[in-house]
Amino acid sequence: MRITLRRPDDWHLHLRDGDMLAAVVEASATRFARALIMPNLIPPVVTGADAKRYRQRIEEALQNAGVDSGFTALMTLYLTEDTVAQDVLNAANDGTVLAVKLYPAGATTNSASGVASIDRVMPVLEMMADNDIMLCIHGEVTDPSIDIFDREARFIDTVLDPLRKRLPELRIVMEHITTGDAAQYVSESERNLAASITTHHLMINRNHMLAGGIRPHYYCLPIVKREEHRQALVKVATGTDNRFFLGTDSAPHTRTAKLSECGCAGVFSAANTLECLATVFDEACALDRLEAFTSANGANWYGLPLNNQSITLEKRSEELPCPPPIAVGDDLLVAFDPARPIFWHLV
Ligand code: DOR
Ligand code: ZN
Repeated sequence: MRITLRRPDDWHLHLRDGDMLAAVVEASATRFARALIMPNLIPPVVTGADAKRYRQRIEEALQNAGVDSGFTALMTLYLTEDTVAQDVLNAANDGTVLAVKLYPAGATTNSASGVASIDRVMPVLEMMADNDIMLCIHGEVTDPSIDIFDREARFIDTVLDPLRKRLPELRIVMEHITTGDAAQYVSESERNLAASITTHHLMINRNHMLAGGIRPHYYCLPIVKREEHRQALVKVATGTDNRFFLGTDSAPHTRTAKLSECGCAGVFSAANTLECLATVFDEACALDRLEAFTSANGANWYGLPLNNQSITLEKRSEELPCPPPIAVGDDLLVAFDPARPIFWHLV
């Protein structure tokens, strides 16, 4: 069996910098037409000038890797309490950035410069609402007294819903949703809210990470939840509501950083995401919805044209091998293990 789709876009991608950027850029650029690049570098991508320079480094990495696939890196700015509204407006108006990313301070990898108080960024958010600049949100509370498995649901009630009531014109993407609560909240919202979903959250639950041994390569944030939540995500990803789209959150860390006493959060899924997604949609008898999820819903939400190129996936009798580890300096980067045999292959 074969299916042909418009070339996909990835609406949430970590490409990093330096050696890691050089190691991972090809995996995304040869598969996806466009990707929305996350700004959580050290130091973060805060100003329009930072974003221009980072995009230049990504383009250089593409050239050095000999990748000539017409890949477009769409940039984001990292919102801090010192962000200047006029700088964001200039960067959006001149096409440097497509969106602004809000990390609650301390929520995840390299989020120390994030937002501790929404009140302090209200002037920037008001400007964004007035100028239709998209806000991408990492939706987890950071209160240490809240259980890590409840942090997304709590964020909806205590931060996201009040913010949406305060600024109903602001267009928001709830990034990498992981719960039935978030799927339902987005489904029931009337306007100006969408959600990205990762490949790994459609495939694994917390048992994959913790039962029968701890598997640090499945540790990511927001953390994977119970099976019922995975099923709720599959339901909306394969359903007819066009506000759900792919953001892989492919987030590379070296093997040493993952297998450590305090291991980093992130799953590197760029190299086998499309084959994995075909498997998920096939299992759900929804292959006819795959193209909307990977190649149309996100572009339509961001108001960008659909891609004209296409890709073909084929279901074969032989299994797709897990992508081999990639060398990064003198370390390795381990690819996402989908926890089931994959029979779909990218042609
Ligand atoms: O698992 C994650 N890794 N979640 C995030 O939000 C950040 C990302 C990273 O940058 O490593
Ligand atoms: Zn991310």
